[in-house]
Formats: sequence, C-alpha cells, structure tokens
Amino acid sequence: MDVLSIHNLRKNFGGKEVLRGIAMSVPEHSIFGFIGKNGAGKTTTMKTILGLLKVDCGEIHVMGEKVRFGQTSTNRHIGYLPDVPEFYSYMTPYEYLTFCGNICGMDEADIATRGKELLYLVGLGQERHRIKGFSRGMKQRLGIAQALLNRPKLLICDEPTSALDPVGRKEILDVLLAAREQTTVLFSTHILSDVERICTEAAFLHDGSIAMQGTIAQLRSRRSSDEFIVETERKEDADTLMQVFGDLQRAEQNALMFHGGEDCFFAIMRYITENRIPVQKIERMEPTLESLFLEVAT
Ligand SMILES: Nc1ncnc2c1ncn2[C@@H]1O[C@H](COP(=O)(O)OP(=O)(O)O)[C@@H](O)[C@H]1O
Ligand SMILES: [Mg+2]
Repeated sequence: MDVLSIHNLRKNFGGKEVLRGIAMSVPEHSIFGFIGKNGAGKTTTMKTILGLLKVDCGEIHVMGEKVRFGQTSTNRHIGYLPDVPEFYSYMTPYEYLTFCGNICGMDEADIATRGKELLYLVGLGQERHRIKGFSRGMKQRLGIAQALLNRPKLLICDEPTSALDPVGRKEILDVLLAAREQTTVLFSTHILSDVERICTEAAFLHDGSIAMQGTIAQLRSRRSSDEFIVETERKEDADTLMQVFGDLQRAEQNALMFHGGEDCFFAIMRYITENRIPVQKIERMEPTLESLFLEVAT
C-alpha cells in the first residue's frame, strides 16, 4: 500500500512554475529519499503534502485520504520535521515532548512512556539539559522524536542532515533507520551518499518534475555501467596493457580502469587470454546515485 501518492502536482509562485506535474508514490515502510538540488522544489512539495500550500493542479493522498489545502485532517497521519525546527529553548527535551503531547491531546501516561521511549530512540534519553545548549544535530534528533510522538504513519523530514557534520549526519541516519520500524520515512536531501546509506527507494526532482524514481536497485539498473576495472597480478602486465590499449587509466599500480562498451571490454579480454596474463580481478563498476543524478540533472 502507498502511504503517500501524488498525481500531476503543479505549483507556481508569481508565474514561475516550480512544480510542473509531479507524480510520486511512497510505499509503506520504505525509507524514501526525495532528492533535488537547492531550489528544486522539495520544501514546496512537502508543504503541499501538509496542506500548507495551495496547489494549482493535481491531487495528493495520504493513507488514501485526499489532502485539502488549509485542512489538517490528513496531518493526523503525518509527523513533520521542518528544515529549520524551532523549539522553546528554556525547556528540557522531556518537558518539550510533554508540552507537544498535551497540545496533541495525548493522555499523560501515554506521553510519559512514549516520550521516554522516543528520547532513547534518538539518543537523548539521558539528556537533562535545556534545549538552548543543544547542537544542531541534537535539535534535529529532538525534532524527530517530537514528529514521532503521536505515532504517525508517515514521517516527513525536510533536509534533516544538510547542516550537519559527518558524525551528526550518521546519527540522524541511524535514527531514521530505527524509526522505520514504526513508520514510513520520507526525507529530502541533496546528499546522495545519505540516500545510498539508508534508503530503500528514491525519487529525483529536477526541473519541476520527477526525473526518476524506484527502488535503489531499480535506479542503479536503469543504466548498467560501462566502466570496468582490470587488475593484473604483475605490474609489468598492467604496463603492457597500458601500452597496447591507449585509453586505459591507472587506478592503482596494477589496476586499470576503462570506459567503453562491450567491444572494448572483449578486445581487452581477448588480449589477456591470448597472452595468458594472470588477472587478480575484473570488475564492472556500479553506477553511483551521484552519477545517475548528474546524468538527469545536466
Ligand atoms: N513562498 C514563495 N514565494 C515565492 N517563491 C517561492 C516561495 N517558496 C519557494 N519559492 C521558490 O520556489 C523554488 C523552490 O523552492 P523550495 O521548495 O524551497 O526548494 P528546495 O526545498 O528544493 O530547496 C525556489 O526557486 C524558491 O525561490
Ligand atoms: Mg528546502
């Protein structure tokens, strides 16, 4: 089942078409990476999912229910972490979650158990300090705990890792992975390695539409790479291959990399076989999400 589906979504700001007919679906229990450059329209899309922005055209369904601008009923299924979350900085994390739980109308006992459970999930279980001393990463993690408080079916995080250092990013990615046990996760990013690390599915937003989407394996297999590495056992064999085939590049002492179709590949294999060159390894390079993205985005 799809937790979220978007059909032909269009949105313009003052005549500038930012979204030009987006179609996207997010299956239940996926970790979905919503990829796009700065200004591509990721935040705009998320705000329309939350009913915070009026769309020009198109439909959005959350848990099968139609999203309507200005109405919040579909948001009971959603937990949302905005790109720059704001908190009452004089509160401790636990006080903050209690405050949010009260606003949502959760009962006291539920707030207490759920609040503690979530603070442990995001690595703030022992934290007694006030939010004002928190690092950006800690604030993002608290924001995720808050977004998960009333057990949403869909957790939406807007660029949760973008402003963080590598350690802070890894902590957030680990929290999102753990959150997947209880919900579906949709997060936006321009950092492709984050998507490769945790996502099961992804979509590329480019030029106002979804240029590609699917499982990570599907995305990779859309373009089988024409990059190979051949590693010989002896350095002198690598040298010979370099001389015979001009367009090889040296990746390491004995390892040569080349771009080229099947003809090039078989010519090199034939030479290796005919001259009985001992080979350590032959590898076809997997295309990275980064290379796929650059292909659609340029
Ligand atoms: N309220 C607004 N009024 C006018 N233009 C906007 C508004 N919100 C966003 N935009 C424009 O829409 C485009 C997409 O913005 P945004 O959705 O924030 O991109 P992203 O989150 O992918 O970086 C940008 O060119 C931005 O300047
Ligand atoms: Mg944004």
